[in-house]
Amino acid sequence: AAAPLVDSFGRRHNYLRISLTERCNLRCQYCMPAEGVPLSARGALLTRAELLRLARVFVAAGVDKVRLTGGEPTLRSDLADIIQGLRGEAGVRSVSMTTNGLVLTRRLAALQRAGLAALNVSLDSLRADRYERMARRPGLSRVLAGVDLALQLGYSPVKINVVLMRGFNDDEICDFVEYTRDRDVEVRFIEFMPFSGNKWDDSKLVPYREALRAAAAVHALEPAPPRPNDTATVWRAPGYRGSVGFISSMTQHFCGSCNRLRLTADGNLKVCLFGAAEVSLRDRLRAGDSDALLLRLVRAALANKKARHAGMENLAHMENRPMILIGG
Ligand code: GTP
Ligand code: 5AD
Ligand code: SF4
Repeated sequence: AAAPLVDSFGRRHNYLRISLTERCNLRCQYCMPAEGVPLSARGALLTRAELLRLARVFVAAGVDKVRLTGGEPTLRSDLADIIQGLRGEAGVRSVSMTTNGLVLTRRLAALQRAGLAALNVSLDSLRADRYERMARRPGLSRVLAGVDLALQLGYSPVKINVVLMRGFNDDEICDFVEYTRDRDVEVRFIEFMPFSGNKWDDSKLVPYREALRAAAAVHALEPAPPRPNDTATVWRAPGYRGSVGFISSMTQHFCGSCNRLRLTADGNLKVCLFGAAEVSLRDRLRAGDSDALLLRLVRAALANKKARHAGMENLAHMENRPMILIGG
């Protein structure tokens, strides 16, 4: 096997997030502008064969965890085949997916059979009118049914991603903690992050400490043991089945333990969520580069990875993709 993917700060990268599509069936405020974003031509996106080939290059260098994102990954018609293909790679320990949950009731059983190991579901409000305001489309009851099905099928825990936005859903923190009482879910409150076209400003950001205070005022929360490389700081209320996490990317970044690399649907490698620097693996692959050359390109990009992101004031003005084109 090739040497592991270690950057100049000694961080070992074993986690690859692959975006499968630029399309989505929702229009969430924090993710994209109301008018949507210009999509790449079909031929610009990685085919399944290309995606699996590139994934193998990373896996040969120690990547053992793959997460599928989008856009909305379930819109990719060959999703089950992609999961099965990744699962079949020796060295891949888990293939997981982050989804808006809209079509889980229809598709999850097949995805589980294909080998999908874990599931994170975006769900920003438990109230139908609010949900629709955040997502600019209806869907709450379908997502809730999807989460219930995932629990029935044995996903444990199902992670629920809640992007907190002041004035939209910050008064639902306690309701979301309540949701963990009888369910094997990990609700994660996420600080709103700036990306192109999402009208970020810090007045809409609900800091981790503030969200924790709101939750702890009503529920007796105790810190859970930290897990290595986790994005979330996790707390539990004694006696509750689920737990509550906080993803504090803006006010307390966790870049020091970063182990992530990203592959966009159009085949660019991003070594940081907030790194404008991208390199096209697709173009080199289509030009006929060998696996060894591709891996060399990955290492060169990783060597330029920064110790941490630039801080929220700077990020708000930085050139980056809209979130819909990154995948989280
Ligand atoms: P696990 O693999 O289950 O730990 O999930 P995850 O938290 O890594 O991924 P998910 O797709 O559920 O993302 C949850 C939130 O964390 C989203 O807002 C992501 O944008 C954010 N996130 C994921 N990875 C990173 C990262 O490397 N850096 C930062 N700053 N945020 C991240
Ligand atoms: N800030 C924080 N989280 C975001 N997500 C999408 N856009 C943002 C943003 N601007 C979350 C989604 C999804 C995950 C991949 O990233 O809710 O759960
Ligand atoms: Fe890693 Fe960049 Fe996220 Fe920091 S902001 S944790 S360096 S991907």
